[in-house]
Amino acid sequence: MKAWQIQGNGLENIKQIEVAIPEPGPRQLLVKVKAVSLNYRDKAIVDGEYMPELMTEPFIPVSDASGEVVGVGSEVKKFKVGDRVTSTMLPTWIDGTPNPDDAVNALGGPKNGGLAEYMVLDENATVMTPPNLTDEEASTLPIAALTVWFSLVEYGKIKAGDTVLVQGTGGVSVFAIQIASALGAKVIATSSSNEKLAKVKQLGATEVINYIETPNVAEEVLRITDGIGVNHVLEVVGGDSINNSIEALALQGNIYVIGFLKGLVSKLNLFPLLAKQARIQGIYVGNHRAFEDMTKAFAQLDIKPIIDTVYSFEDAIEAYKHLYKGAFGKIVIKVAE
Ligand SMILES: NC(=O)c1ccc[n+]([C@@H]2O[C@H](COP(=O)([O-])OP(=O)(O)OC[C@H]3O[C@@H](n4cnc5c(N)ncnc54)[C@H](OP(=O)(O)O)[C@@H]3O)[C@@H](O)[C@H]2O)c1
Repeated sequence: MKAWQIQGNGLENIKQIEVAIPEPGPRQLLVKVKAVSLNYRDKAIVDGEYMPELMTEPFIPVSDASGEVVGVGSEVKKFKVGDRVTSTMLPTWIDGTPNPDDAVNALGGPKNGGLAEYMVLDENATVMTPPNLTDEEASTLPIAALTVWFSLVEYGKIKAGDTVLVQGTGGVSVFAIQIASALGAKVIATSSSNEKLAKVKQLGATEVINYIETPNVAEEVLRITDGIGVNHVLEVVGGDSINNSIEALALQGNIYVIGFLKGLVSKLNLFPLLAKQARIQGIYVGNHRAFEDMTKAFAQLDIKPIIDTVYSFEDAIEAYKHLYKGAFGKIVIKVAE
């Protein structure tokens, strides 16, 4: 089969190769990949910034994939040939508490991912693709959507009427706007672009802030919320942005620490944290059981992922270049019809 392989840092070290089609084990599925979607993680891996100590051997990149089951191991019970399925980034985290070796077993680095004609998935870490989604749409769920779902629903116990602050219009944040508003929350969204802010209003954001024109986002959030602040912040910016997020928070609100777009190190102001009695929750995507719950909700609420651009398998490097520039929602690579 044809596959792309990461052989070192930098886009020039993503090479197309020919390898044997992998053999599924007794409890595994052989999947013909139809589509994969890119995440900021895929860029950070190429740049050598994402857990470089784990990425020592060549591997097939991209964890997020959807396709069709074309072969099953001898003990597989839950899936059959012809089923439409979607991968999970952390196949060892099925439910409950995470495991110390979840990152070691992550798909798309260091374990082989989906940027290939075929991939092998563990039966108990695979989800049935929601019937209302195409393979391209479903390929966007495993990291970006599940990260939001795990933050707001699993940890945050979000309720209708809660307020949520969402930063920017990348893959995670666009899902945050869609999921939070579908669950009845009021969403305040930020962006550097007024054009993108007009689009997020159509996705359910009730209030918008251009963070270039209005750099003091926290002050504006407090103005919008009559001084109360928001119940949830999905913190994707990283660096010292967490201090602004605490300022924008309601008493006993939740901050989900998700991203590091502007830096991996924060200098935290402790007094505002104490005064707000804020809860700060680190997030590492989510588990398989929550993913299954989320796919049911996507079908029930008819949430359609927002795809910026679809690239062909041969144009995978162009898709990566687009990821470096930033996108509105998700970038997808179509692998097969
Ligand atoms: N912890 C986890 O499990 C987990 C899971 C998924 C992602 N992440 C992390 O979360 C971050 C976002 O991921 P992603 O895939 O959504 O990235 P992405 O699609 O590349 O998002 C980029 C967008 O972020 C926005 N942005 C950049 N700087 C900003 C700022 N100062 N204030 C507000 N928004 C800003 C921009 O929006 P505008 O163009 O609208 O300004 C930009 O388009 C990354 O660091 C990623 O690694 C972590």
